[in-house]
Amino acid sequence: MTDSERKNIYDVFDQESPMATEMRRLYSNIRHHHGRPDMRSFLVTSADRGEGKSTIASHLALTVARFKGKKSLIVDADLRRPRLHDVFAVPREPGLLECLEGKIDPLAAVKDTPVENLKVIPAGARIKSPAHLFEGDVLSEIFKKIRFYYDIVIVDCAPVIPVSDPMLISSEVDGVILVLLAGKTPRNVAQRACDILRDANANVIGVVVNNLSEVLPYYYDYKYYGYREHEGEKGGASGAGNAPAGSGAGGPR
Ligand SMILES: Nc1ncnc2c1ncn2[C@@H]1O[C@H](COP(=O)(O)OP(=O)(O)OP(=O)(O)O)[C@@H](O)[C@H]1O
Ligand SMILES: [Mg+2]
Repeated sequence: MTDSERKNIYDVFDQESPMATEMRRLYSNIRHHHGRPDMRSFLVTSADRGEGKSTIASHLALTVARFKGKKSLIVDADLRRPRLHDVFAVPREPGLLECLEGKIDPLAAVKDTPVENLKVIPAGARIKSPAHLFEGDVLSEIFKKIRFYYDIVIVDCAPVIPVSDPMLISSEVDGVILVLLAGKTPRNVAQRACDILRDANANVIGVVVNNLSEVLPYYYDYKYYGYREHEGEKGGASGAGNAPAGSGAGGPR
């Protein structure tokens, strides 16, 4: 982790920044997906590692909490490469792992942040093979409870191609957001990720294009986030509006 990452997210999140603006747009799009006003829980995933899931999930959660005054909770369900305890500077344990193991109540794993409406459930202790933990009924029980207590729940998780955790978690949320890394995620890999999610009956509501290496020629001098609704859905491009041509579910090449 670099020094700038260590500088916590509360310090670097500027409400007037293009990033914050894009996150507000993203939130506005996803919460009324196809006119459904009741979208309250979202899973953020990607095809493969390092495409920006944790970054997008964290900024989205902060945006929701800061600008909408909603009781928001972000959950680190990436037990393999957990990051949110660092991002939000909260203790890593106890967290989701201990909830899944039945050791603690989900509410006992919730950590406060300096943002009044934003709470975090970190990943918990280290574990090598967490897949089996997502398979039982405990996961549903956890989500039932946190959805009851929080208005908006955002879940950061592992990528869909290497592991099965995201598919299991996807049935506990209202919608799935797929992050693609501009210039990196190949079209066929993005398509494969969509197919895997669709086979799991996940409700893929949109694609975020993370322009980390600024390969897209856009207006902002900051990293650009574009959003498009999933190509399998009606309605086409929406929200960020400036979503790169041809991004869709396939992503740019
Ligand atoms: N838009 C961005 N602007 C600046 N840095 C970014 C951006 N997106 C991602 N990064 C950086 O890229 C790295 C990977 O991002 P991140 O951890 O969000 O990806 P991830 O998909 O969650 O990775 P993993 O698969 O390991 O969980 C991090 O160092 C993060 O700070
Ligand atoms: Mg991550």
